Amino acid sequence: MAKAKTQFVCQNCGTVHNRWAGKCDGCGEWNTIIEDDMMGGIGGGPGKVPKKGRAVALTTLSGETEEAPRIFTGISELDRATGGGFVRGSAVLVGGDPGIGKSTLLMQAAAALSRRGHRIIYVSGEEAVAQVRLRAQRLDAADTEVLLAAETNVEDILATIGEGKRPDLVIIDSIQTLWSDTADSAPGTVTQVRTGVQAMIRFAKQTGAAMVLVGHVTKEGQIAGPRVVEHMVDAVLYFEGDRGHHYRILRTVKNRFGPTDEIGVFEMSDKGLREVTNPSELFLGERNSKSPGAAVFAGMEGTRPVLVEVQALVAPTSLGTPRRAVVGWDSSRLSMILAVLEAHCGVKLGQHDVYLNVAGGYRITEPAADLAVASALVSSLAGLALPADCVYFGEISLSGAVRPVSQTAQRLKEAEKLGFAGAMLPATSAEVPKGANGRWVTIEDLPDLVSRIAGSASKLRQTPEDD
Ligand code: TYD
Ligand code: MG
Repeated sequence: MAKAKTQFVCQNCGTVHNRWAGKCDGCGEWNTIIEDDMMGGIGGGPGKVPKKGRAVALTTLSGETEEAPRIFTGISELDRATGGGFVRGSAVLVGGDPGIGKSTLLMQAAAALSRRGHRIIYVSGEEAVAQVRLRAQRLDAADTEVLLAAETNVEDILATIGEGKRPDLVIIDSIQTLWSDTADSAPGTVTQVRTGVQAMIRFAKQTGAAMVLVGHVTKEGQIAGPRVVEHMVDAVLYFEGDRGHHYRILRTVKNRFGPTDEIGVFEMSDKGLREVTNPSELFLGERNSKSPGAAVFAGMEGTRPVLVEVQALVAPTSLGTPRRAVVGWDSSRLSMILAVLEAHCGVKLGQHDVYLNVAGGYRITEPAADLAVASALVSSLAGLALPADCVYFGEISLSGAVRPVSQTAQRLKEAEKLGFAGAMLPATSAEVPKGANGRWVTIEDLPDLVSRIAGSASKLRQTPEDD
């Protein structure tokens, strides 16, 4: 009989240590290491008596393949994020901050699927049946045939969902509440969550039911506890948004059956989440195009163009070290743009505070926003408003050159659709459609951009005197 072995696992990042320590080497967190029985975890497994292996048939890469069988919710923003609907036999993790609307979204998805004749089981580990019913009433989902259970024990859940006709989709809300009799550690620990998730994934693979797992995210932005869960599931969706704003974004970060970088956009209302099919109009909604320091960025989210306003405020500082504050963008990227402006364009910002904000609480991840940010900064510093009907995109290199970015045509098409006649963009070898009345200006480098902004402004200033 093999000796029972123990290991020490960090509850924050999942790093395994040989002995207990106060601080985890992996993530630097204190007091997160817990003694753990190896029997239940990955690589452990009960009774490690070596068994004689069985040869499996080897095969080739070419051959018959089946299109992944999917179930559509009919909520197009959700179907877009999952790559065309939930895949049968797969497990999807939906992560997000507490209170962002995960349970709401999944209840609406469950109701929509149920209306299409699918058998849906919603297992709530956080709320009592009465609470879930109240939410369902609010979402107009109470009349659907979604089956409900309030349970946290893994074995009981498996027995419940395994009974009767196979469900098409099972929702487990949330994985942090799962606990199993087979794992020795306390509920909520890495081992418990991992064991529970493993059991749910096994159920999905065996029965062909789609499995949706809800996970809360810690303040560091990781799915709380084990990041291992992200590796185990087939797709990971993050539900993000700013509490102060109404809209929410469902972002795909991993998908074994479809594209990543897709987003679904929703708006939270008193009757649940509403789809936003044209996000650009939402993000540009409250624009004041006459004030300096605002530039519209023509961005892409996966296959979808998104126009969003970048706002900059550059003001003389009263501090020894000027402030740089960024919301919705990468702060090291901002430092880089400031350095390039100083080094190559003679724009001195050492005595100025710089604030940068992406409108509506939206978060930009693309380097293509560089040109829009630079334009907003120059516009604010000079106190000159940019033309209201112009979009900006392009990546800026350390030498000050403006680099081409992908999907130029789609960006311009969206801009035109929303009434932006002008665009400042990098010179590109790709084919650029000629707009009906497009004033598309290719920018070679940052000094070129600065002189154009200053030039267009001096023209503007002359106009009143000419009149
Ligand atoms: P919830 O789905 O419970 O969040 P999560 O499961 O991610 O923790 O959503 C909670 C918030 O959503 C709560 O603050 C109230 C708000 N909400 C609405 O504004 N409208 C609604 O119709 C519903 C159901 C919730
Ligand atoms: Mg919830």
